[in-house]
Amino acid sequence: MKCIKDAKLEDKTVFLRVDWNVPLKDGEIANDNRIRATIPTIEYLQSKNCKIIIGTHLGRPDGEAVQSLSTKILAKRFSQLHSGKVIATDYVIESAVKAQVEKLEPKDILVLGNLRWYKEEEENNLSFTKILASYADIYINDAFAVSHRAHASIEGITNFLPSYAGLLLEKEIRMLSTLSQNPRHPFIIVLGGAKIKDKLGLIKQFAGPADNILVGGAIANTLRFYRGDDIGKNSKIENDIESNVEEIFKISGEKMILPIDGKIKDQNTLDIGPKTIEKFKEIIAGAKTIFWNGNMGFSEDENYQTGTMKIAEAIRANQYTKIVAGGDTVGFLDSHKMLDKFTFVSTGGGAALEFLAGIELPGLKVLGYYNTNG
Ligand code: 3PG
Repeated sequence: MKCIKDAKLEDKTVFLRVDWNVPLKDGEIANDNRIRATIPTIEYLQSKNCKIIIGTHLGRPDGEAVQSLSTKILAKRFSQLHSGKVIATDYVIESAVKAQVEKLEPKDILVLGNLRWYKEEEENNLSFTKILASYADIYINDAFAVSHRAHASIEGITNFLPSYAGLLLEKEIRMLSTLSQNPRHPFIIVLGGAKIKDKLGLIKQFAGPADNILVGGAIANTLRFYRGDDIGKNSKIENDIESNVEEIFKISGEKMILPIDGKIKDQNTLDIGPKTIEKFKEIIAGAKTIFWNGNMGFSEDENYQTGTMKIAEAIRANQYTKIVAGGDTVGFLDSHKMLDKFTFVSTGGGAALEFLAGIELPGLKVLGYYNTNG
């Protein structure tokens, strides 16, 4: 794969794609990990005297200029984290942007408007892509978390500019790859969250190499329902996935550990129960590689946070490799100041799951990743 350190960057204008798609709560940034994680690449570009144009999406505005999803809030947070000149605009392809680009001095940063205010971004539209490319000499993808999307600023733009992976993108690949390349055993996967469909590929890929797959969250309800457990008649069950569930049981066999009890309210299982927590903790304590994605219960409500909290504590206490991915889980850990003990905190949600499932990510493909790896 072509990486930033292979590029001749001195005095160039760079289009840097980041994924600053951070969670927002009441109009404020709830967690700025995705912004912080891109700072090493930005500093590296500044050390080469580059003029930097930053492109990102925020949320899913579907081609509409949704004001609550303006990137100005991101530019503001970034300038609190990093000194230097930062200019923010709500525009992307309008002529005003070209004029701003022309005025940039070395090391200056221009944060473009939300790329997804333009439907052309997701359509990978050719004219839109050409305008993005016209701003710069070089393209850097540091947006691992959206590299599973064949969008204009991820895929199309690489047809027009010399293109390289940023430092965060490289690190994501290197760290996540440790899970598929000779993980130390016992190797366990801890899964939670809402949708089995999103985790199916990962389970298929790791059912062989992993020693155990511990499952909590709403996905465990669905699996337990199909297993015939009484989970309460109001528990949420994912529909139309019977064949997937059968396949999961078949391929994971005894390795999959489902909850044996739950915290139930009004016939609705909303968290894993104390016996399950003890069982999971014991397995976690003996593991030498842990991958965690997805909360153990309905952790938005503090009455149902115990499972996620206890599992987080157990994973943090483990001395070996522990990698966490997924917005909800990383957000939970961040809000409880528990991110520090992890070997690696991925910025990826869906992208991390697809990467680990062995699915080719369009953003990596265009950088040549699969010519030499994968
Ligand atoms: C994410 O949050 O996982 C990425 O930013 C991708 O967002 P998307 O699922 O809206 O494409």
